[in-house]
Amino acid sequence: MVKICCIGAGYVGGPTMAMIALKCPDIEVVVVDISKPRIAAWNSDELPIYEPGLDEVVKKCRGKNLFFSTEVEKHVAEADIVFVSVNTPTKTRGLGAGKAADLTYWESAARMIADVSKSDKIVVEKSTVPVKTAEAIEKILTHNNKGINFQILSNPEFLAEGTAIEDLEKPDRVLIGGRTTPEGQKAVAALKAVYAHWVPEDRIITTNLWSAELSKLAANAFLAQRISSINAMSALCESTGADVSEVAYAVGKDSRIGPKFLNASVGFGGSCFQKDILNLVYICECNGLPEVAHYWKQVVSINDYQKTRFVKRVVSSMFNTVSGKKIAILGFAFKKDTGDTRETPAIDVCHGLLGDKAQLSIYDPQVTEDQIKRDLAMNKFDWDHPQHLQPQSPTAFKQVSVVWDAYEACKDAHGICIITEWDEFKKLDYQKLYDNMQKPAFLFDGRNVLNVEEMRKIGFVVYSIGKPLDPWVKDLQVSI
Ligand code: UDX
Ligand code: ADP
Repeated sequence: MVKICCIGAGYVGGPTMAMIALKCPDIEVVVVDISKPRIAAWNSDELPIYEPGLDEVVKKCRGKNLFFSTEVEKHVAEADIVFVSVNTPTKTRGLGAGKAADLTYWESAARMIADVSKSDKIVVEKSTVPVKTAEAIEKILTHNNKGINFQILSNPEFLAEGTAIEDLEKPDRVLIGGRTTPEGQKAVAALKAVYAHWVPEDRIITTNLWSAELSKLAANAFLAQRISSINAMSALCESTGADVSEVAYAVGKDSRIGPKFLNASVGFGGSCFQKDILNLVYICECNGLPEVAHYWKQVVSINDYQKTRFVKRVVSSMFNTVSGKKIAILGFAFKKDTGDTRETPAIDVCHGLLGDKAQLSIYDPQVTEDQIKRDLAMNKFDWDHPQHLQPQSPTAFKQVSVVWDAYEACKDAHGICIITEWDEFKKLDYQKLYDNMQKPAFLFDGRNVLNVEEMRKIGFVVYSIGKPLDPWVKDLQVSI
């Protein structure tokens, strides 16, 4: 029986290994992590991440051929294939701070693999890493190898949160990069055989190591670029009276462009896009390509602009001050159907409003009060470090309350900001919300989930990204 061990039981490692276990009953899969609470949660009825369909998959395999354990070294030693799916934060200090990937966790995992291995192993890079990381890891492994043969593969994960199970079950493609040597190609074939249990062969792409690593960064950069492109258009739409949804629809009908990923929003979030682009920027700079670096940096700059723009719309519409005013924040996760808040635009929007002394009442169906307060207390880029390194006692939170109901959040509020496109926000009784708010009642839709005309009929002053401006909002705008 082939044995797989995955180091890192996070958003990538957990669901990916669960799917491998489900589709490959002949393979034993053990997911290991240094975090005891995380492993305990994977072994309980309350999984540590919220992902539609994940519970069922885990329940079917756990205890049969899927195991979660903190005995990292033991399971790594026993495995034929070791996936590494640990955190790769953005460096906060030293060379490349604010851009380069911090490979501390990766390096310590690689050294541990070298230490405990007694048999040949295929080591698979699963977390997104800078191009040529595999080469560095290979050096660590081969310089400490005691005669053991290590083959390094890059197998980037393309799943999106909220649809992870669907994405894993029917991937657009699986990408495997390896050395072109006979041993390298043998390792590629071994990993291909795992995925071939359920993925059609023509969807399994094999490349050299660097191409696989770079493809992941490039794919995320292209996706984020589409969002920044439509968000840039949304600003122009607001200034000129066009409707961004109509523009996106018309543009997306061109089969060369396609309709997906053209939803204007308050900004993209998530653990990957910003981090990977900054990484790409850093790699370009290090390779003497400042123009290319500058090009990609703009994707992140427009995203920051979009979040700032949203806050300015809120403040300027409400007579240029939100000081002491209650504002309801509906949604804190970086997208619907996940409880993940990494790099969520909600953090920047809340900081902006808190900076103008607003009183925030936050509701998200999947994010806990503890998480929201920790996020609002954290420094930029700190989120990808273990929790014990993050600030635990938030300081200035008299201005923030977290509630478990949208109606409670909006009661007596001056304004509502929709930050996450949860389906339940489309179905709220907006007349009831309006009746219980201060007047004039403002509604700022950062996800374009509401029918603006209907909301205006109720009486709201409405701002919706990239839509023709409410005369009220238009008259009160400072330049943005
Ligand atoms: C992304 C990639 O899609 C995935 O392939 C990669 O493996 C990891 O990074 P993820 O971050 O989980 O996945 O979610 P994604 O659906 O890509 O959304 C990212 C952000 O963009 C979210 O904040 C989302 O709300 C936003 N978004 C997405 C938009 O604002 N508009 C869109 O049209 C699409
Ligand atoms: P991703 O979204 O890429 O899956 P996460 O932060 O959710 O990232 O998960 C990474 C996991 O890797 C964390 O649970 C962390 O505890 C774990 N981890 C980091 N370093 C090690 C290590 N050396 N050994 C085992 N687990 C590790």
